[in-house]
Amino acid sequence: MRKRIVAGNWKMNKTVAEASELAQAIVQGFTGTDSCEVVLCPPFTDLAAVQQVIAGTAIKLGAQNMYWEEKGAFTGEISAAMLKSAGCHYVILGHSERRQYFAETDASVNKKILRAFEHGLIPIVCVGETLAERQSGRMHQVVEEQVRGCLANLTAEQVATLVIAYEPVWAIGTGVVATTEQAQEVHALIRDLVAKLYSMQVAEAVRIQYGGSMKPDNAGQLLSQKDIDGGLIGGASLDAKSFLEIVHA
Ligand code: 13P
Repeated sequence: MRKRIVAGNWKMNKTVAEASELAQAIVQGFTGTDSCEVVLCPPFTDLAAVQQVIAGTAIKLGAQNMYWEEKGAFTGEISAAMLKSAGCHYVILGHSERRQYFAETDASVNKKILRAFEHGLIPIVCVGETLAERQSGRMHQVVEEQVRGCLANLTAEQVATLVIAYEPVWAIGTGVVATTEQAQEVHALIRDLVAKLYSMQVAEAVRIQYGGSMKPDNAGQLLSQKDIDGGLIGGASLDAKSFLEIVHA
């Protein structure tokens, strides 16, 4: 039985004081649940403050990105070891905003995933098609290529451990959520692909989150689908009440 996972991707929002406040509100409202893992992914500058607030609770910390090199002269970058030492369990890799604005590719995401595992971080690997790709009928091919490229050279055990986030680019921050059928279709496609590349057992173990305008009023339906194991929440994670409503859904 896969444990559900709901993660808040705060993107480039919240100063240290604001992040502490939001984390406190989430901790206060969180009733605890064994069936769902909860992860907060604030910006790098807020990791320490959020870690302090969630210490001793079941809520886990994640980062939004990292660099694949071990250490050295890479001004402005953050390493896996740094994230681990800051208390991170998870790291989001290959988000479509990173692909779009910072030229990330499946190959660079793959290097990051391998490095994250070396340091005991669990990657949340993002894939998803653009509207143009969907409309031109290339959705399956695009998502399959991303999954293959990102997961290259990973062991079965690593794939069973990581989280894949299916985030259709056209649904991110737009208020246009994928229908339950659209989301379930791609989640099933990804799980089938993992079965083909690895095994049924790995496919049954890997958790696949949906991301893209998930809100309290649509979360329940999306999460009732058999291959949707959780959510990666952007906008709605910036408000404690709506984030917790999704968790409790
Ligand atoms: P929204 O929930 O704001 O659409 O963002 C989704 C997302 O990109 C999470 O990583």
